[in-house]
Amino acid sequence: MVSKELEVAINKQINAELWSGYLYLSMSVHFANNGLPGFANWFKVQFKEEQDHAHKLMHYLVSKGNRVELQPIDKVDTSWNSLLHAFEVTLEHERVVTSLINNLVAMSRRENDFATENTLQWFVSEQVEEEETAQGMIDALKLIGDNGFGIYTMDKELSKRTYTPLEMSSDSE
Ligand code: FEO
Repeated sequence: MVSKELEVAINKQINAELWSGYLYLSMSVHFANNGLPGFANWFKVQFKEEQDHAHKLMHYLVSKGNRVELQPIDKVDTSWNSLLHAFEVTLEHERVVTSLINNLVAMSRRENDFATENTLQWFVSEQVEEEETAQGMIDALKLIGDNGFGIYTMDKELSKRTYTPLEMSSDSE
């Protein structure tokens, strides 16, 4: 079993992952409303991945005999000034999530809870990817600037992103 303190902290992280998903879903519908179906698709896949992150933590708590307590998900913004602004918000948010994960790892180390730390290491690696991807989008959008054809081409490219469900098997837990 995971300690009560860690159980509470992981439940908070589940809420943070679901909030992340809600934020990206909001971005997805915003760009769908603004004639950018490829960007909408990209954020929709992001939304599904965040749900998987939450599910992975829920699965872990249940497997350890702990309680999952889902809490209300806070309101998210519903519009952004530009594509660049949305990805800057995304990067900033992913940096916050990285620090939350790091705090959880530190807590599990203090408790010598190696199983929890091992589960969290997957998230440590995932966060490196999440930040790198958001930074890559920002770099691309800065290069494109106001070039309409560039935005059009990037939108077409992002429409190809597909969702792959996260494997909840033992090697991913
Ligand atoms: Fe669940 Fe985008 O980190």
